[in-house]
Amino acid sequence: MKYPKEYLDEIKTRLKVSTVVSKTVKLKKRGKEFVGLSPFKTEKTPSFTVNDEKEFYHCFSTSEHGNIFDFVMKTQNLRFGEAVKMLANLAGMRPYTFSKQDEERESKWKLYKSICKNFSEFYKNELFKNENSIKAKNYLKARGLSGIEVKNFNLGFVTEDYDYYKNLKKDYDEESIKDTGLFYFDEKKKKYISRFRNRIIFPINDISGNIIGFGGRIVDDNKNLAKYINSPETPFFKKGSNLYNLDKARKLSNKLEDVYLVEGYMDVIGLSKNGIENSVANLGTALTSKQIKILNQFYNQIIICFDGDQSGYKAALRAAENIVDEMKPDKNISFLLLENNLDPDNYVNKYGKEKFLEFSKLKSIPIHQFIFEHYFSQTTESPSSKAIFEKKLREIASNIKDNFVKKYTLEYFLQKVSELTPNINTKFQKNYRSFPKSLAKTKSYYNETKSLKSFEIKEFSFLYILLTKPKLINQNFHLIENVKLYSDENKQLFNEILNQSENLLNLNVEKLNIDKSLINRVMNYASVKHIISKNLNDDEKILEIFIEITQDLKNYELEQRILDLESKFSQDMSESTFNKIKELKKQQKIN
Ligand code: UTP
Ligand code: MN
Repeated sequence: MKYPKEYLDEIKTRLKVSTVVSKTVKLKKRGKEFVGLSPFKTEKTPSFTVNDEKEFYHCFSTSEHGNIFDFVMKTQNLRFGEAVKMLANLAGMRPYTFSKQDEERESKWKLYKSICKNFSEFYKNELFKNENSIKAKNYLKARGLSGIEVKNFNLGFVTEDYDYYKNLKKDYDEESIKDTGLFYFDEKKKKYISRFRNRIIFPINDISGNIIGFGGRIVDDNKNLAKYINSPETPFFKKGSNLYNLDKARKLSNKLEDVYLVEGYMDVIGLSKNGIENSVANLGTALTSKQIKILNQFYNQIIICFDGDQSGYKAALRAAENIVDEMKPDKNISFLLLENNLDPDNYVNKYGKEKFLEFSKLKSIPIHQFIFEHYFSQTTESPSSKAIFEKKLREIASNIKDNFVKKYTLEYFLQKVSELTPNINTKFQKNYRSFPKSLAKTKSYYNETKSLKSFEIKEFSFLYILLTKPKLINQNFHLIENVKLYSDENKQLFNEILNQSENLLNLNVEKLNIDKSLINRVMNYASVKHIISKNLNDDEKILEIFIEITQDLKNYELEQRILDLESKFSQDMSESTFNKIKELKKQQKIN
């Protein structure tokens, strides 16, 4: 839901940046500005500046800058909506209410979380006080958990002897209680039965710390009952969009680089007990790319560490395939495979924190390697098995949305595949290597043309295709519409090509009113020329290459504009410059 600009502006008008910042940073007035020690870095001399007039803060040592919303989001790890709520409250404004439907949902949500909270509180108490909880207490003790973990994770025990539904019914209507999924209606007994009866419960929180569901474990082994059950999907509990312990783990992202993603509640608790608190668990279902996106808002490095048994391995593989297409350049996902049927909980309890961290550092492998190694292990000597192997890898790589990651993943796979065929004649091997996106090739051209800047060579490639395949580009004219070239000479050539005729179909290179040596440079140094000449009749391939080049050029242009604006911003600290930077960075992300 989007807040209207006026509402946000009113918050900004009522709250000076210095008022908000000074709640956490000690500020001193200096001229029109305030200065203080940066909250983003430990430092002795103040490099953190606040300007109320311009409604901005800027940190000169980390280049962090932004408005009051950015400030509380960054320093308190809040999401935008939460920051707005908090600041509106500080400004003495009413929380923003959205449409009638939003309001209805909001009031349902209030009831929902209040029921879940009551339920949790009640059975937390029961675990400590009810004498029938003794078996649960003993069980937890036997698993090495102390009161600290029980309290930290708000564990409870749903004793069988108490009909808590009746209690809830005093304060809430049947519909609202039913919505939480905590009880189901028993047609025979004609009453609501507690889904979690006789189970230790693990409250599951949303990202802000509200309880939205539960996991429940049996305490005495009974083969007829599922070891764990979880709340069903409800209007406010979507398994694929939540993670166990995310509310706590996200708060550590200021201090820690990576986060562990494990399978079970007990893994998170076991790790935490051993001093590793940056872990989350998915909720008894397959990992989704949505969950990865959520984690990526806080962490750039995700280490997936599932159980060291067959089902854990299978789950890891499935996870890898589910999420690989969402890979982004600045986000790393790796896998840590445990052995001997250990899970992270067993491992860390057996070997301790240091060993676990060391093991993770040494043994975690990036997602593309994991995928490669898995399919490799499935491949036999037979040619058809190998063919299936290569096809599968190509298919996986081609589904990656980000073009850069796609390129490098494909390169990695093909490089590995070509190592598997050492006896194949060199011509054939060359075919692998000269695949349009091959890096090795491009690299060797870079070396030949060391004196040229890399963007210039990209521009040559752009012009080369334009000059050699004018018909094809004419059919796809939109591709060149927003391309901007940087080198003056290339720009001149580009303009001349466009000016010569309205239509690229009539392009006549001989008649271009331009120094021939410029054209020669393009023809000689364009790194794509070999690939193009080999695939002269494969328009689809050439177009694919061309699109990639134009995207690279656009990204280069964005990069330059951001750099310019950033240097301008450190001088003028103006909001409009800042917003422009933000906008360009957003575009960069979309590309
Ligand atoms: P595990 O069986 O690996 O959990 O299942 P664990 O934490 O190692 O179990 P114990 O307590 O140490 O024996 C991992 C996760 O899979 C889901 C749960 O979310 C659990 O935390 N699961 C497991 C179920 O939903 N149902 C089951 O019957 C078992
Ligand atoms: Mn396990």
